Amino acid sequence: MVVDVLYLIAAVCFIFALKGLSSPQFASRGNYCGIVGIVLACVATYISVGVSCAFYTLIAIAIGGGIGSCIATRVSMTDLPQMVAGFHSLVGLAAVLVAFSACFAPELFEIIGINGVYKSSLIEMGLGSAIGAVTFSGSVIAFLKLDGRYKGSDVPVFVNTFLLSFVICLLIYFVTTEIVSVFILLTFLSFVLGAILIAPIGGADMPVIVSMLNSYSGWATSGIGFTLHNDLLIITGAIVGSSGAILSYIMCKGMNRSLLDVIFCSGQANSSNKNGDSSDVSKTCKNGSAEDAAFILKNASSVIVVPGYGMATSQAQHALKEMGDILQKEGVKVRYAIHPVAGRMPGHMNVLLAEASVSYEDVCELDEINRDFASCDVAYVVGANDVTNPAAKHDTSSSIYGMPILEVGKAKTVLFLKRSMGVGYAGVDNELFYAQNTMMLLGDAKKTTEDIIKAL
Ligand code: TAP
Repeated sequence: MVVDVLYLIAAVCFIFALKGLSSPQFASRGNYCGIVGIVLACVATYISVGVSCAFYTLIAIAIGGGIGSCIATRVSMTDLPQMVAGFHSLVGLAAVLVAFSACFAPELFEIIGINGVYKSSLIEMGLGSAIGAVTFSGSVIAFLKLDGRYKGSDVPVFVNTFLLSFVICLLIYFVTTEIVSVFILLTFLSFVLGAILIAPIGGADMPVIVSMLNSYSGWATSGIGFTLHNDLLIITGAIVGSSGAILSYIMCKGMNRSLLDVIFCSGQANSSNKNGDSSDVSKTCKNGSAEDAAFILKNASSVIVVPGYGMATSQAQHALKEMGDILQKEGVKVRYAIHPVAGRMPGHMNVLLAEASVSYEDVCELDEINRDFASCDVAYVVGANDVTNPAAKHDTSSSIYGMPILEVGKAKTVLFLKRSMGVGYAGVDNELFYAQNTMMLLGDAKKTTEDIIKAL
């Protein structure tokens, strides 16, 4: 009874944690709710299993917590997406291990009746193991791709579809026959499926994949919860699974693509081209200095700052905030436009701007601000590229075609801060660099912004 009540309170804490995390203003409160939920969940689990296991579980918590804290404190802001993908893989692996334990020792899990293991438990085991294996290998591949250690490879859609169908057939066969070797084959092929599903996906679709894997890890957790008869795991798994799925859907909508298209379309393979330079030498662009930019900014009445991945790598957010404050004191209206997939993880730009204490009222989402570019004097694009690229609107052959963009080209002047004429994450050249109203400010975004501050 006490355990059930504690689990229920913990589940409510997790719901409040998610609610808080959906807004930067309440994110830290949400985090605290999550911490309280986890502590309550641990206490309830101790009460339910008895203190005899306490020694071993405390050692496990100390080792896991130690490794987790080491990684979390050392990881840089730009490497967070990889870290998230890496951690998701562990949830998947845990689901596979629990399913294997249940398969080989069903009596310990009390899932065995007179006619053998309960059918419902076989379904939970098979599904938990398959989803867990897909989550594990898919997350490992996502980690390697986001970390730039693996570029991806093309896998024909029919191979993915065939393997997925075969895994489903094996699952049904296992549930009806209870043959252990079928269970092992099912898990092995699910590992392969996860890897080949994620390997071809690249470029602009990676954010969706990260949140989709988050969703998978939630469903895998729910599967573990059914096997372990743990209500809290079922609830939290379902919350993570459904919130990840909703986030994936919102992102797909933001990129004007369908989820199935993202998962099965291998056309984006290898489109990630971090160091590539696709600039056409026959085109000319206008280069400017920090003094030129300061002059333009000072004479503007409204400025929209568009941050992208380059702001994160150069850590320009504090300099940007300082520049924004100076301009606001001069009577310039300064706002920040956030694209849903700017940077390398959901909310990446919001987190960095919040870290620099940029006021939430000045931060606007794409739909809110897009029509204001036409009436603004300066679009100050800081290390953003794909999210401003007009090819997404008119070039049907482009890998980012259909993705909504921040229409910075409509501003009177566009100041582009980047180090070179190179491409962004999706590897697509940006025609805006050569537009009449664009001035390129080449160099590190933080250094350039600091120079502009000096000139201001
Ligand atoms: P990108 O298109 O990747 O462009 C970033 C630009 O920043 C690059 O063109 C780079 O040009 C410049 N840059 C890098 N370091 C810099 C520095 N120190 N100083 C100044 N500029 C620097 O970024 P974006 O516009 O934010 O678009 C995000 C892309 O990532 C989209 O394609 C999106 O689909 C993908 N993606 C997003 C996520 C999430 S969830 N947000 C996750 C994975 C992938 P130089 O090299 O010339 O400097």
